Amino acid sequence: MGKHTLPAVDSGSYSEAFARSVDDPEAFWLEAARAIDWDSEPTRALDDSAAPLYRWFPDGSMNTCFNALDRHVLAGRGDQAAIIYDSPVVGKKKTYSYATMLDKVSRFAGLLAEAGVGKGDRVVIYMPMMPQAITAMLACARLGAVHSVVFGGFAAKELAARLDDATPKVIVTASGGIEPSRVVEYLPTIVAALALSSHAVGTVIVKNRAEVPGSAHEFDSPGTQWWDWDERSPSASAHPPVPVLATDPLYILYTSGTTGTPKGVVRDNGGHAVAMAWSMANIYDVHAGDVMWTASDVGWVVGHSYIVYGPLLAGATTVLYEGKPVGTPDAGAFWRVVSDYRVRTLFTAPTALRAIRKADPHAELSEQYDLTCLDALFLAGERLDPDTWTWATALLEKPVIDHWWQTETGWAICASPRGLERMPLRAGSPSFPVPGFQVQIVDEQGQAVRHLGEGNIVIRLPLPPGTLATLWNGDDRYRHTYLSAFPGYYLTGDSGYFDREGYLYVMGRTDDIINVAGHRLSTGSMEQVLAQHAAVAECAVIGVHDEIKGEKPVGYVVLKSGVTIGDRELAAELVSMVRDQIGAVAAFRDAVVVSALPKTRSGKILRKTMRQIANGEEYIVPPTIEDTTAIAVIQAVVLP
Ligand code: COA
Ligand code: AMP
Repeated sequence: MGKHTLPAVDSGSYSEAFARSVDDPEAFWLEAARAIDWDSEPTRALDDSAAPLYRWFPDGSMNTCFNALDRHVLAGRGDQAAIIYDSPVVGKKKTYSYATMLDKVSRFAGLLAEAGVGKGDRVVIYMPMMPQAITAMLACARLGAVHSVVFGGFAAKELAARLDDATPKVIVTASGGIEPSRVVEYLPTIVAALALSSHAVGTVIVKNRAEVPGSAHEFDSPGTQWWDWDERSPSASAHPPVPVLATDPLYILYTSGTTGTPKGVVRDNGGHAVAMAWSMANIYDVHAGDVMWTASDVGWVVGHSYIVYGPLLAGATTVLYEGKPVGTPDAGAFWRVVSDYRVRTLFTAPTALRAIRKADPHAELSEQYDLTCLDALFLAGERLDPDTWTWATALLEKPVIDHWWQTETGWAICASPRGLERMPLRAGSPSFPVPGFQVQIVDEQGQAVRHLGEGNIVIRLPLPPGTLATLWNGDDRYRHTYLSAFPGYYLTGDSGYFDREGYLYVMGRTDDIINVAGHRLSTGSMEQVLAQHAAVAECAVIGVHDEIKGEKPVGYVVLKSGVTIGDRELAAELVSMVRDQIGAVAAFRDAVVVSALPKTRSGKILRKTMRQIANGEEYIVPPTIEDTTAIAVIQAVVLP
């Protein structure tokens, strides 16, 4: 399959690269595409025939798994570590070479093929942070099948919604995951999700873990066969990579939308591989043989891009860490892993640093470890507050690089691209637009906002390769959600401003999405759950500032008249409903009974004003408010 080259290091300064990406995107991205091995090289970069839906490299064909594994083995790097698995929660450490991963992935692809999976079929992966999660993802890519990884902290109802939308032939799972406080059994969740879903899944493949009870043999559901991973995969025959069109989907990743229904972000194969390879060299400055550690979860986009695909496409070594920043066993865990594996680039969410700082304010635990290997720390997933940036910079004496992106974009919209040019960093800013992303600030009428003025952050179409192609089963929803507010532009849903030197500051969401411990959640979907309670007349969930998690959801509920239920009893029931229906990851712990919610005369709940009150920010009471006493009620509750 093609020639066996590794991604080349780009050269040239940031502004030169940015200008080329805008002035001549065809040449820019065709050149970047040379970092990938193609079965059929693309002759064109952009296909705008269905604008505003765009496709990249329409006549190219390739295989993502071949690029992530086979070509490194063919290039003589088979013995190099591909994955270093480190799990303080099960007490295991293991290194997997590229050759070993190729063998495991090829055979697991063979097993999936035995279960009837072929090109274009979907496979849902519901697994904890174990190497088999990566094996399953790459095996899908090898077959040209489409994986959809669901984060293990989601409950059965959320999983069922994804099964109904993605209609997978197979679910790949494990007996469970291990949280520091408890063992999380996955199989009861799978069974419940299958029962809730109207889609019939042909096969469930279970990787048994000694630490968690449950195995494939205990289950038998009508129409669904349950297979044991360890029994079946050794005898499966290795499957070769299946060439797919660059525009064929590699994965669907569901993310919170402004309504309760999750949106299936569709990522293609070719554009994604090109963007990943470009970003590894030019943003992270990580190359073949380097060690990158992204302390996230494979269930999130950050994990897809920079635990799995980015490092492996670059021929680097990726660290898969199954643990927490604190408590497994202590706040020195991150520094231990960096030092043990000579990590060059660490990527995590600000919340992890805040958790470490709280437990070890002067980072005394870091003194036991040699961190000289570290080149830079990258942070994303939520706003990086200047205080945390300053603390981490002083501690590491290395660049601490904030970069801003979303599940939808798949890679950074704004960053300080370290591989291109080393530019000064500023507290509170993810620096500059990455080549390919034409970022602008506009007001509600779509007019450009002058420097220093805050507004909606939008990106001029087309978005570069690697960004979402569309939403699964949802071209219209894609257009409506992202492309209709400001024609010709993609709506990020974030607001912010540029300073005089062109640094962007991302201030927060303009919709009902909140970020809790780096996890993206919809307050709308929590409100849907609260509204189901028989005692609740109406409710609002808002994101309130939290010292460690950045934000936490708080629910305000108004009771139906005549209802007699204790506030505490009701709160406990609401908390457990959200946990059962969305999952522990929602971290919904606070429900407060109020006599009224502030609303406009047209009945719109003033969530923004409530958030400002709760966060102690300045706010203006809108002139259209229905009943000003409702503001006083909220004030009395949140500002005791
Ligand atoms: N499976 C099952 N449950 C999970 C889970 C998973 N994969 N991940 C989290 N949960 C559970 C937690 O156990 C917790 O349950 P509890 O209510 O019984 O205590 C709940 O979900 C809330 O978890 P979280 O909000 O993560 O809080 P925490 O106190 O457990 O951990 C941090 C706090 C900051 C240490 C942790 O959130 C963290 O490391 N965050 C990094 C975020 C990240 O990597 N984001 C990806 C984007 S870069
Ligand atoms: P997710 O899709 O889970 O990656 O979440 C994307 C959202 O997280 C963005 O739209 C932002 O609101 C927020 N976000 C991610 N990275 C940053 C960052 N570096 N600075 C500010 N907000 C961020």
